[in-house]
Amino acid sequence: METRRIDELRVVGPFGAGKVLEAEMLRIAAAKKVPRPSRPKKPQPGTCVFPFDAELAQHAVDYCRVASRIHHDVLKTKADRLEKLFDELVEAEIFQVLGCPLSFSVQVKNVDDFAAGDRQVVGTIKNAILETAASSGNTSEVDPSNPDTVVNATILGDQLVISKLLTPESLSRRGWRLERTEAPMRENLAALVLMACRYDPRKEALIDPMCGSGTLPIEAGLLAIGAANRKSSDQPSLFPETKPTLWASDVDSNAVAITLRNAERADVAITTQTIPYQELTDLPDGLIVANLPYGERLEQEDLDRSIIEFESWARSQKNCRTAMIVPGTFDPLLLQERPRMDKPLKNGNLSIRLLQLR
Ligand SMILES: C[S@@+](CC[C@H](N)C(=O)[O-])C[C@H]1O[C@@H](n2cnc3c(N)ncnc32)[C@H](O)[C@@H]1O
Repeated sequence: METRRIDELRVVGPFGAGKVLEAEMLRIAAAKKVPRPSRPKKPQPGTCVFPFDAELAQHAVDYCRVASRIHHDVLKTKADRLEKLFDELVEAEIFQVLGCPLSFSVQVKNVDDFAAGDRQVVGTIKNAILETAASSGNTSEVDPSNPDTVVNATILGDQLVISKLLTPESLSRRGWRLERTEAPMRENLAALVLMACRYDPRKEALIDPMCGSGTLPIEAGLLAIGAANRKSSDQPSLFPETKPTLWASDVDSNAVAITLRNAERADVAITTQTIPYQELTDLPDGLIVANLPYGERLEQEDLDRSIIEFESWARSQKNCRTAMIVPGTFDPLLLQERPRMDKPLKNGNLSIRLLQLR
């Protein structure tokens, strides 16, 4: 048989998140006083795979801020044809392995290498679950809208991994950002940026001089108190005593108004100003993080010029560390000084880089 039972916790974050995600999982385990997980496998950039632990999995689902999805991986197969996949899943008793769900839905991701289309893979897994349920005298039904269990299949390396998806809704949407300006950052990417810069809310203010819809400062406020990762969660914050100092400004008054309304929905207090960053004065000691404008309408030369101008302003703020998020096409050799960190990341499909100046 080319199918094996596995019992693993797969935490999936944005491209480039691996190390930060690993550190975040260790912090969550420590804060919730559950055994420290062993070093994860990293089968692809931004993914950590730990041995499965039900308590840690639940805490990750509640609190992990960098992850977008969390899976309980249960089967791994090298079967690459539909008939073989069906036979192997039946032999592996997939219905029982999934915990005998009363209802389920099946979704596939990244199965392009499989010698069949997405729908056929979905149909085969569905049929194998129904078959193993029936042959053991149980019933289970397909329910796409409100299933007991969301079954996921994805190719990792050279194998198809079957999992229970523990986060049916992506964690990249927290539930407070109901209004957005142009080109907002994914919320879990904002968490990754802040953690990669080692933002310490007990020692430094967070200043976003180009706040757009407020993703970075709002995420900083929630990260500071270890808030549950979704607004709808009833889990308590892990560090409610932390009082972060958050500053947000933008040249666009509409962006500042949206930031304020989003912050109110997230229950985060932010000091705001409508002002070009070039005119900001009296900044508190802290970490400046700016997501510079980018987009198809801007020529590379204009982008380069605006990044270089921002660097020069940032270096004149002697009491602050600075990080900037720029398009992946920017050449850091154009900067006055070599950045101390240059991390390639992705915002959705867009390649970007996180540059930390000091
Ligand atoms: C890429 S967006 C920021 C998106 C934001 N991180 C979010 O997630 O919504 C860049 C922002 O920079 C602002 N901006 C452009 N030039 C500026 C300047 N000179 N001073 C302050 N803000 C500026 C734009 O108004 C825009 O809101």
